[in-house]
Amino acid sequence: MNNNKILIFDTTLRDGEQSPGASLNINEKLEIAHQLARLNVDVIEAGFPISSPTQFEAVKRIAEEVDVIIAGLARASEKDIKACADALVSAKKPRIHTFSSTSDFHILGKFSHPRYGNSLEEKRKTIIKMSYDAVAYAKTFTNDIEFSAEDAGRTDLGYLAEVIEAAIEAGATTVNIPDTTGYTLPSEFGNKIAELKKRVSNIDKAIISVHCHDDLGLAVANSLAGIENGARQIECTVNGIGERAGNASLEEIVMALKVRSDLFDYYTDIKSKEIFNTSKMVSAFTGIVVQRNKAIVGENAFSHESGIHQDGVLKNRDTYEIMTPESVGIPKNKIVLGRHSGRHGLKARLEELGYKVSEDELNHVYDSFTELADKKKEIFDDDLRILMGDEIHNINEFYELENIQVNSGTNSIPNAVVKIKVKDQFVEEASIGDGPVDAVFNAIERALKIKSEVESYQVRSVTSGREALGEVLVRIRSNEKSFNGRGISTDIIEASAKAYLSALNQKELYKNEVEDLKRKENLSQAI
Ligand code: KIV
Ligand code: ZN
Repeated sequence: MNNNKILIFDTTLRDGEQSPGASLNINEKLEIAHQLARLNVDVIEAGFPISSPTQFEAVKRIAEEVDVIIAGLARASEKDIKACADALVSAKKPRIHTFSSTSDFHILGKFSHPRYGNSLEEKRKTIIKMSYDAVAYAKTFTNDIEFSAEDAGRTDLGYLAEVIEAAIEAGATTVNIPDTTGYTLPSEFGNKIAELKKRVSNIDKAIISVHCHDDLGLAVANSLAGIENGARQIECTVNGIGERAGNASLEEIVMALKVRSDLFDYYTDIKSKEIFNTSKMVSAFTGIVVQRNKAIVGENAFSHESGIHQDGVLKNRDTYEIMTPESVGIPKNKIVLGRHSGRHGLKARLEELGYKVSEDELNHVYDSFTELADKKKEIFDDDLRILMGDEIHNINEFYELENIQVNSGTNSIPNAVVKIKVKDQFVEEASIGDGPVDAVFNAIERALKIKSEVESYQVRSVTSGREALGEVLVRIRSNEKSFNGRGISTDIIEASAKAYLSALNQKELYKNEVEDLKRKENLSQAI
């Protein structure tokens, strides 16, 4: 590898999916993984296989279909590593990513049990041994092993160097230094990487990676400091989504290296023109809206509001723009489809937006498209993304909204009647509520004889104008697990009903997937 190449390790589907409320189904993950391959990332971290049957299945499917290095996460335990290796069995280029906690905070908090040792010193030794053993065991499945020292940002430097040295000795080919809590400052973090290069005697046998969180808004700055001091792999996510305040944002790192190539003599292989489509796809599937003023991909990133700026840009773009919108894939002109656009036109545009559309999906989405085109003259890219999001999210409809009628107004009690198709039968119920949405949700619960906790409810318009498509996102909680539902319609009350049913459908889908996997497991044990 050229020593100036920076590897991009994308963890949108693992750390990114750990964003509150971002859970993705397997089809959404596959679609994103294909788009990440088009973006040309070097590694896709597809999930944490041991953590749930659906995570396992998603990693397996991505490993089967996508020809990039596919990594799976595993704690430093044989059970985790075996599950990870099993999920990656079909990958052409599998990577097992195993990790141990190394900061005193983590050691004393997560390894408090005396079986790990009585004193901090003893526990630290146990962790070195666990890390060594984990890497050595993972190495029996594949040569490509990454080791992470969790909370390295707050780990004593001397001890961190010892752990990293042991991991490399056991066979780690990449060693990752995460700033798990987003605590460090750029100069401090950069210095940590420089010191590790000096102190770890076998460091030349592995690639140094950094993985920074954004709790102080410094994830990108810390990652760049890592590069300047010897890191050659950056772990990041699309739109910077991830645990708490998120991870370092892929698009910001890539464009910082590109735009400031006068200062950074490093490059990535990312096809920057795919950035915009990837950002839009991740936002549409996760339901996590990109803030307007977000660097590179926010709606305002290339808008010029004041007269002086507009005038300057019209005369010469360089006056106020350090990169062009086209360089990150923002189309110059708005492409509009309408009632007269045919199936081929729709398919071609969806493919340009990064979607792999099967014939079946095209048939469904074309129906939704023509329905929408009857209500709304012009259909924009964002409308198409939402139609695709709806198509892929709501694949298995156990419950389907047949009909809805709602009455509400000043000085009247809101009431709703819903008719729902459940398999081949219809159920119908009415209810009142605190508002029209509450009345609809109550009627659905009565019809299906269920009660769920609605954790969050969001409504937004997808494009502008009074006939804009409304998207409703509903998150429900059941048995300590959250399920996201989405509904779209030009009528936001109908979209709300669809979103609630969609969340219930996700719950049914999950139940079925778990039962399916259990059945398969019993079958393979019986053989
Ligand atoms: O933030 C972190 O430390 C992680 C590790 C598992 C790499 O996500
Ligand atoms: Zn992380």
